[in-house]
Amino acid sequence: MSLAPDPGFGVYLHWPFCAAKCPYCDFNSHVRHQPPDQERFAAGFQRELEHFRARTGPREVTSIFIGGGTPSLMDPATVGAMLDAVARLWTVPPGIEVTLEANPSSVEAGRFRGYRAAGVNRVSLGVQALNDPDLRFLGRLHDVAEAKRAIALARDIFPRMSFDLIYARPNQTVEAWERELSEAIDLAADHLSLYQLTIEEGTRFHALHAAGKIAIPDPDRAADLYDATQSMTSSRGLPAYEISNHARPGFESRHNLVYWRYGEYVGSGPGAHGRFVENGRRIVTFTEKMPETWANLVEANGHGVIGGETLSRTEEADELLMMGLRLTEGIDLARYENLAGSPLSASRISVLREEGLIEPLGNSRLRATPTGMVVLDALVADLARPD
Ligand SMILES: C[S@@+](CC[C@H](N)C(=O)[O-])C[C@H]1O[C@@H](n2cnc3c(N)ncnc32)[C@H](O)[C@@H]1O
Ligand code: SF4
Repeated sequence: MSLAPDPGFGVYLHWPFCAAKCPYCDFNSHVRHQPPDQERFAAGFQRELEHFRARTGPREVTSIFIGGGTPSLMDPATVGAMLDAVARLWTVPPGIEVTLEANPSSVEAGRFRGYRAAGVNRVSLGVQALNDPDLRFLGRLHDVAEAKRAIALARDIFPRMSFDLIYARPNQTVEAWERELSEAIDLAADHLSLYQLTIEEGTRFHALHAAGKIAIPDPDRAADLYDATQSMTSSRGLPAYEISNHARPGFESRHNLVYWRYGEYVGSGPGAHGRFVENGRRIVTFTEKMPETWANLVEANGHGVIGGETLSRTEEADELLMMGLRLTEGIDLARYENLAGSPLSASRISVLREEGLIEPLGNSRLRATPTGMVVLDALVADLARPD
């Protein structure tokens, strides 16, 4: 992977509605009996983007990502209005990556051509599993046949596409996962996101897990599943470039790289957060999560931002470490030192190297080893700890 000197400036747009709430999901997603007023929300995005444009000044956008929730519940015209607003406010060079997250139901696949015409050039499909019993267990509204049709259609229509799978499901063996992953690689185009199931607080799975009704793989089995994932994807041409993301070299998600390379991004829509430089300092913004309240706030104040802060250099350095060590390209040590005001502790680096958790990459970068990736949170906490 080439190491971009400039990590980029992305725009993230959050569509907060779903047809049903999946039992594992703690994203900001809401189910409504009445379809939301798309024109009202599109107008809200336009106004809130104007607010952010006033704060970022003129910039060149390097990627746009419409995530959710389920953005594929939107009419193509709504997507078009959002993308047009971005292009009116900032410079959007032709051909930059424009991704939309889609669920693979047939109704939504029917809108793919419209999204392409509106300017989307990459789709990310939430397939989650390639067997029907597990799709039902995950509360999904599609089956495998529908998912395969959506994948084929997306490959046809969009220059680039990715799909997501969730593994480390209850009772999933390494052999069963390898069979499913192998099929996924056959179906994949240039990119796959492979997430281990996590039990998030506040979800239905959390309650079931707490009641002892579902069990997820223990850390040893999870590590075996992770290793099997790494070796199969790399031997089949889709190596990991981030802890859960795999791509043919050159087809990494530009937008997600903005986050992991600690670039800047504007986040608009209910519950979106952003990080960009304002008056020479990196700031964090976050918006109201409840969609209708967000829309009311935007109509009253021109934006739904309800909080934010200016990050200290130390906080920036910690975030850089946390995000960058997820990548196989690791972090630039000089950039860390520049932010933190001092280098990472040499003695701690040497202990963690001896333990096989981190390794240098050339003489200017540091990365987590595959073993280190499995315990990344603890590793980052250890590295960031002052001497
Ligand atoms: C914003 S969500 C989904 C986009 C789209 N609404 C969908 O469900 O297809 C992005 C991805 O995060 C993953 N995900 C969400 N919750 C998860 C969890 N608890 N454990 C593992 N992966 C999860 C799923 O693979 C999902 O496709
Ligand atoms: S996984 Fe996707 S479809 Fe399911 S609730 Fe979360 S955002 Fe909605």
